[in-house]
Amino acid sequence: MTIWDTFLWVVLPYAALVLFLGGHVWRYRRDKFGWTSRSTQILESRWLAWGSNLFHYGALGAIAGHVIGILIPNWLTSAIGISEFAYHFISAIPGSIAGLVCTAGLIILIARRSAFSRIRRLTTAIDIAVYVLLAALVGLGTYATVFVNAFGAGYDYRSTVAIWFRGLFWLHPQPQLMATAPLVYQLHTAIPWALYALWPFSRLVHVWSLPLQYLGRPYVLYRSRLAVARR
Ligand code: HEM
Repeated sequence: MTIWDTFLWVVLPYAALVLFLGGHVWRYRRDKFGWTSRSTQILESRWLAWGSNLFHYGALGAIAGHVIGILIPNWLTSAIGISEFAYHFISAIPGSIAGLVCTAGLIILIARRSAFSRIRRLTTAIDIAVYVLLAALVGLGTYATVFVNAFGAGYDYRSTVAIWFRGLFWLHPQPQLMATAPLVYQLHTAIPWALYALWPFSRLVHVWSLPLQYLGRPYVLYRSRLAVARR
């Protein structure tokens, strides 16, 4: 283990989490009205519909996979009846599909941003940084899933990456578990921290603005046009 491992697998994650949490508080207090996805749908909607749907559905599938494979320990998935074989099947087939769908969506979104000059002009330096990080992250994750786990020699990341990741939240990081992981897993696991650090300062804050209140309020309030006219 080197000092570089301590930096990557201990200092970087905690520094990013502090920025992530503090940054959101700062952004909410300073820029409540700028808390949006800054949608460019009004400028172009056909590519957006394809790119955005593919990217978001693929990412949701991948996130579900991360919950099962990284957040939940092996013994718990086995206890609820998901055998090691079933887990590897889920991770290889639906995992690869989710990764490829997410990658296809991201490629369309990036192509759209560069192809339409009006959208290109609205793209900020932070947007570009987010796209670069997402492209690296999704590309490496999909590569690992398809070429290492589905069609390659395989790598048991549940006994290294996953244990290290959960350890961060128990304040018991074990950087030695990451120090020997294959490079593609190391890169895919280090890059998210840069994304989390940028998150509160970018358009990604829209992720926390799902209009969940509508789920518990199954009606829409309309204002009568007549009432407005009379007034
Ligand atoms: C520190 C946080 C993260 C860890 C520890 C992590 C870990 C992993 C691992 C181990 C794999 C490979 C699975 C395999 O080989 O079968 C993977 C795949 C993948 N990751 Fe991550 N990941 C993290 C964050 C992210 C983020 C923020 C994204 C953004 C969308 C992402 C997107 C993906 C995708 C698209 C795949 C391929 C599809 C899949 O297997 O679900 N990951 N990740």
